[in-house]
Amino acid sequence: MSNDDEEMVVTPWTVKGKVDYDRLIELFGTERITPELKERMYEVAGEKHFMLDRDLFFSHRDLGWILDEYDKGNKFTLYTGRGPSGQVHIGHLVPWIFTKWMQEKFKARLYFQITNDEKYFFEQDLSLDQVRKLAYDNILDILAVGFEPEDTYVLQDIEHIDLMYEIAVRVAKRVTFSTARAVFGFENSMNIGGIWFPAMQAVPAFIHSWVYGTNTPCIIPCAIDQDPHWRVTRDVAERLGFLKPASIQNRFLPPLTGGSKMSSSEPMSAVLTTDTPKMAKKKVMNAFTGGRDSADEQKRLGANPDVCSVFKYYEFLFMPDDKDLADIEKKCRGGEILCGECKQILAPMMIEFLDKHQAAREDVKDRIHEFSAGRLREDLKR
Ligand code: TRP
Repeated sequence: MSNDDEEMVVTPWTVKGKVDYDRLIELFGTERITPELKERMYEVAGEKHFMLDRDLFFSHRDLGWILDEYDKGNKFTLYTGRGPSGQVHIGHLVPWIFTKWMQEKFKARLYFQITNDEKYFFEQDLSLDQVRKLAYDNILDILAVGFEPEDTYVLQDIEHIDLMYEIAVRVAKRVTFSTARAVFGFENSMNIGGIWFPAMQAVPAFIHSWVYGTNTPCIIPCAIDQDPHWRVTRDVAERLGFLKPASIQNRFLPPLTGGSKMSSSEPMSAVLTTDTPKMAKKKVMNAFTGGRDSADEQKRLGANPDVCSVFKYYEFLFMPDDKDLADIEKKCRGGEILCGECKQILAPMMIEFLDKHQAAREDVKDRIHEFSAGRLREDLKR
């Protein structure tokens, strides 16, 4: 569990302490998403998106360039991914929902990487068999978000290595051990699979251009902890004859138990996509809030939504309408609503969401092949 008194550590494999997003922008050297960039996105999309508007996506690399290219008629690909180390929770869906919006609005092809190799290398207790099962299970959650089958290519590293290996070796040759150690903090005890893995995570940024012989821009929507990968990928891109991938980066949905980032390994900290209504409700009712010690005190002094995990759920997912969000915030600060009552509002929203998601998960079960990156093999032959 994350503890806010700890020093902040944000790497692709560890998130600890209270996450200071302004500091991450400085440390990682990314840029803030400006109001102008948001407007440019909305202009193309023909609508706003609350995740951009509320700065849930807050940081980027080269987003302006991607939009310039788009305006010139040069379409981009989208690339995102998932490491199948456990079950999917609601927080994982945040960047995927936004990615689907971008796919739809920009008519972009999406490459979705499933890093089964990564989780095998990095999780001591996971067997290949377990990773494979988790990958299948996670793909159901991904596809349940509603991506377009014709425009979605799910790449599983182990299964699709024939499509990935050539690009990976070209990347790997140009990244030294000392760079990898500096960027990712590898220690001597790291197995060599882990050290090799960043070459694999670079591949989907280039795969479209490689398969089709084009020079197609790519943008990666993802959580900010993945940024070290893109530093390395961008660094080698031009030497390989590819364009540097852009990225657009989101904040973490905080855990229900308080702190900075949810984790599937802390059972009460996150609602899993497969939770029963009863389980989901229990987690919501136990959530950490910004409430006062007594009802009396709360009615007099109000509560604090800034630290409240229930409020974050409204902000990140369940209240896309700003008026609804402002209304609940006002009631909270003004002491008009108690935390128990507020949780009673969230619980049925959560249950309805899960109900729909679980039905969509069932629906995609026999359609997984339609989304497989194995289709690229045909295109590669031509
Ligand atoms: N490394 C990521 C994880 O552990 C998975 C991943 C691969 C990814 N490629 C990505 C995430 C691109 C975001 C964008 O979950």
